[in-house]
Amino acid sequence: MAPEPATMSDFTIRAAGPQDSSAVEEMLRGAELPLDGLRDQFGDSYALAETDTGLIGVVGIELYGDYGLLRSAVVLPEWRGKGVGEALTRDRIDWSRRRGLHALYLLTTTAAEYFPRFGFMAVDRGLAPNGIRSSREFSEACPSSAAFMMLVLREEAFTSLTEEVAIMLGARDRVPGDIPRSKA
Ligand SMILES: CC(C)(COP(=O)(O)OP(=O)(O)OC[C@H]1O[C@@H](n2cnc3c(N)ncnc32)[C@H](O)[C@@H]1OP(=O)(O)O)[C@@H](O)C(=O)NCCC(=O)NCCS
Repeated sequence: MAPEPATMSDFTIRAAGPQDSSAVEEMLRGAELPLDGLRDQFGDSYALAETDTGLIGVVGIELYGDYGLLRSAVVLPEWRGKGVGEALTRDRIDWSRRRGLHALYLLTTTAAEYFPRFGFMAVDRGLAPNGIRSSREFSEACPSSAAFMMLVLREEAFTSLTEEVAIMLGARDRVPGDIPRSKA
């Protein structure tokens, strides 16, 4: 039988504070997810799901200029499949939109089939903006086999994508938006 979805009255979502870092680290260890760089930006860019008995889920965003890296998505095993991960992920997407971020990125070895429901699509790592490349997850923690995914939040992200694609194709001098037209 399919698990009963939880309702928002079963759990609440709040922004994390510095005092929550140890509990979050414990959850990440339990799910064998990387802790690298967690404390560099830990705070209210992380959302926590809680019940009366304590922490049941986390999703965080690291900020790199106009871009965010969604990381540390984890729900306690006994709470999985009840919509907690979805509530947390949507909360962080809304938060990122309110902050005016152009796009969110993530790396995953375990949940590449999960994130498309929120609009994330797999993209080539070569399309990562410099800030995202500098993150510990991107540069050290996640294996090169990890899926790299992107969610566009504002159309400015497409401009940057166009430029990166042009660089990859070796056509840097033709951008932005200056595709030569044939003379009629
Ligand atoms: C991935 C995770 C955060 C999802 O949270 P959740 O609360 O279980 O997810 P939800 O209840 O919102 O969604 C459940 C749905 O997602 C699917 N799903 C859950 N985890 C998935 C995964 N790893 N890959 C693909 N689909 C997944 C379920 O099959 C279910 O599908 P359905 O709606 O078609 O029935 C949770 O399963 C988890 O903590 N996994 C271990 C840690 C992990 O791999 N995190 C990802 C790091 S990037």
